[in-house]
Order: sequence, then structure tokens, then C-alpha cells
Amino acid sequence: MTAPDQRTPAREVRLVSRPHGWPQPTDFELATSDLPELADGQLRVRNEVISVDPYMRGRMNDTRSYVPPFQLGEAMEGAAVGVVQESRASGYDVGDHVLHQLGWREEAVLDAAAARVVDTDAAPASAYLGVLGMTGLTAYAGLTRVARLQQGDVVFVSGAAGAVGSVAGQVARALGAGRVIGSAGSAEKVAHLVDELGFDAAFNYKDGDVAGQLAELAPDGIDVYFDNVGGDHLEAAIGRLRQGGRVAICGAISSYNDTEPAPGPRNLARLIQVRGTVTGFLVSDHQDLAQEYAGLAAQWLASGQLDSRETVVEGIEHAVDAFLGLLRGDNTGKMLVRP
Ligand SMILES: NC(=O)c1ccc[n+]([C@@H]2O[C@H](COP(=O)([O-])OP(=O)(O)OC[C@H]3O[C@@H](n4cnc5c(N)ncnc54)[C@H](OP(=O)(O)O)[C@@H]3O)[C@@H](O)[C@H]2O)c1
Repeated sequence: MTAPDQRTPAREVRLVSRPHGWPQPTDFELATSDLPELADGQLRVRNEVISVDPYMRGRMNDTRSYVPPFQLGEAMEGAAVGVVQESRASGYDVGDHVLHQLGWREEAVLDAAAARVVDTDAAPASAYLGVLGMTGLTAYAGLTRVARLQQGDVVFVSGAAGAVGSVAGQVARALGAGRVIGSAGSAEKVAHLVDELGFDAAFNYKDGDVAGQLAELAPDGIDVYFDNVGGDHLEAAIGRLRQGGRVAICGAISSYNDTEPAPGPRNLARLIQVRGTVTGFLVSDHQDLAQEYAGLAAQWLASGQLDSRETVVEGIEHAVDAFLGLLRGDNTGKMLVRP
């Protein structure tokens, strides 16, 4: 047990105004809070690594969604892994690493029921926020259950150098895809996909003409599209779908900061011709795959079939920069903050 007087005041990041369009640094505030004494069943946790994720942009709006909005003037939430400093919960010892949802702060008091002990001898703490965590499972569930990946499929992944996309492309390859094509927002990311992550081909969507670039790399069409981006990428992918093609709608990051509804794909009628399906999904509905995926991911990481990159920003005072950078594409692999 650490005595209370050894604690330093804990800093946290609060949302102070709701962004309209792109979030601005002034929408956030770094504040200091006094942590409450522990009640029975609670833990005090010092965060070691914090996740920033695109879905958090949605929680900054005051709209009903699958997760409630962040409250103005309060610390934001999100996944984090931290070390237990003080415990009043059986099964949780000082020094344990726990995965929980009170990120965006240096230290948290939380109910142990909302925390899961993770094994940092088996993998680094950060892996439980990325390749072995929510983003990895999203890629696996989207490919296997939603897109029903088959051996030999031609697979197109957008946002392919990011946390979900990079795992999706590599998992597709590991599960026997015939050809894996990716798109990302810089020449360096495109080279990373092909040279380091084993994609067969990739293009930079910022070079323009997404449909034309995809057609060039997938002359015979695609069977699966793993969509992280929406917009012109979705329309281009529908335009290349082969008979029975499947689109898994994971995200639509190209529209998250839009102030007007983005135009829909103009070619949905093509789905009739190719008997195609477009299915949206949420990873939280596929937790039953977590154990299966964890076993496979551990094997693929060990064999080198799965390479997981992270972009790490140091300091809680730079957490907002990390989040804004994520929306701009500053990250390769999972974007994380070490407070
Ligand atoms: N359905 C679910 O349960 C679920 C779960 C997790 C994540 N998601 C979604 O999956 C997607 C990826 O999430 P992630 O955590 O892996 O984030 P990420 O891909 O690691 O980071 C976001 C990336 O989006 C790209 N991007 C930003 N604006 C773009 C635009 N206008 N067009 C194309 N790409 C753009 C940037 O890379 P570039 O440099 O390539 O532009 C950036 O690095 C997001 O849409 C997210 O909302 C869904």
C-alpha cells in the first residue's frame, strides 16, 4: 500500500467545449484533480499508457450514440493500462497491470469490477490497447465474421497503416487471402504496407482518384472491402466488388469532422448486380471472439506474420495533440500516450 501523502496531484484532460468540425486545442483543458479515498472494491491506478481512438470524436458531440457523450468540464474516458497503486479489492494486488476505461488522466480511482488484470510478462502493456486489444479484435471480427473472409479472396483495406487497418491486412494474409491491397495517406505509409507488412499492393489516396488507383491494383475486382474510411473509398470499393462481394463497414473517418452529412455512395445499385452485401459492425458485439483471436494473434506475433507498430506521444500535456494527430494521420499503427 502506498500512503496517501506519497501521491502527487493527478492531471487529467477535460472537454470544455464541444467541437464544431475539427476539434481545436481550446476545446480541451488540462486540469488537476484530487483523487477520492478508496471505497471497498476499488483500486487506485497510475496509468502507464493511454489510448486515443477515432470513436472519441463522436463522444465529443452531444448526440445519442452507442456510447454516451463526454460531459463538459469532466475528464474524458477511454481505454488505458495502468499499475495498481492501492487496492481494496480482492484479486487485485499492488503492482498488477490492469486494463480499464479511465484514460485521459495520470491516475484514477475506479471499481475493480471495471478493470481486468493483464499479463505484461506475456506482452507489453501497450499491446492490450492495440494488437491484443480492442483494435486487433475489431480487425479480426470484421474480417472473419462480418466479411466472412474466404481463402483466396482479394481484400481491400482502407486506413491500412492505422491500428485496425494494419492488423486487418496482415490477418487477411495470415488467413489465406489471395491478394491484399491497402490505402493510406502518405508515400511512407504505402511503402510500410508493402515492404514491412506484406500487403501485395497499396496506394496513397491523397494522390487522388481512389477509384482509378484501386482499379489499377485490383484489375479483376475485390471480394472483401474492410472500410475504415467511408466516402470516396466506399464508393470505389463497391465499384470493384465481384459476385458475392462483402463490405464490412468498420469506420468512416473521412466524415467524422464533417458539419454536413457526407454524400452517400452513388453506386449502391451495383450491389444488386453482384449480390453484394454491406454490413456495419461494432467490436463490442463480438467479444465472444476475443479468446480465439488472442490465441491466433499470439501465434502470428511469434511467427512474425503479425507486425504491430505504435506511435507513442509522451506526456499527458500532449494527449490532445496525440488525438488531433490521429485524426490528421500522424500515426503509423496504434496511437498511444504515455502520461
Ligand atoms: N466498428 C468498430 O467497432 C470500430 C472499432 C475500432 C475502430 N473503428 C474505426 O476504425 C477506423 C480505424 O480506427 P483506428 O483506431 O485503427 O485508427 P487509425 O487508423 O490508427 O487512425 C486513424 C487514421 O485515419 C486516417 N485518416 C484520417 N482522415 C482520413 C481521411 N479523410 N481519409 C482516409 N483516411 C483518413 C489517418 O491515416 P492516413 O495517414 O492514412 O490518412 C489516421 O492515421 C476508424 O474509422 C474507427 O472509427 C471501428
